[in-house]
Amino acid sequence: MEQTDVMKPETLDDLIHVLHKIFESDNINVEEVQAIMEAYESNPQEWMRFAKFDQFRYTRNLVDEGNGKFNLIILCWGEGHGSSIHDHTNSHCFMKMLQGKLKETRFEWPNDKTRGDMVQTSEKILEDNMCAYINDSMGLHRVENPSHTEGSRTGHKNTVKMTFWSKFGERTPFVRNIIYLFIPKRVL
Ligand SMILES: [Fe+2]
Repeated sequence: MEQTDVMKPETLDDLIHVLHKIFESDNINVEEVQAIMEAYESNPQEWMRFAKFDQFRYTRNLVDEGNGKFNLIILCWGEGHGSSIHDHTNSHCFMKMLQGKLKETRFEWPNDKTRGDMVQTSEKILEDNMCAYINDSMGLHRVENPSHTEGSRTGHKNTVKMTFWSKFGERTPFVRNIIYLFIPKRVL
């Protein structure tokens, strides 16, 4: 068997170029994409212009539309900012850390047994240059910047905002792959 060497993208543009090639195919090798994403060594000069922070919540900044095959989005997380618990609407979701640390908490899909309560399956700190991956078969997750959140959470643990792309059989027949590049605000 021929071993596929993972090429190392030297720049963000280089990474985007490689991703365009890979996502031309509808069959994505998840490990390959993850390895390439991790091989890109984050260089702030290359992505700084996309990194726009908001005081109140994390921001989503579109960088590339991937020829209609994926969206590459830079997410900027201020101290204590977090997402809701969410699914990924039949997409691959890759999460590459450009700078700082984020906490990712995963959950089972709610079912009859759990009576709608969210059951946590894992908790992980994502570090610089790591690339995590999730899809709907792996459950749901929440992502948050753990900086300065101690004691700031109040009793809202069971409030889960779920969004659906289909309800009662009506669905947007549109599958998108998502590549997130994360930048949590550094706390010195
Ligand atoms: Fe997500």
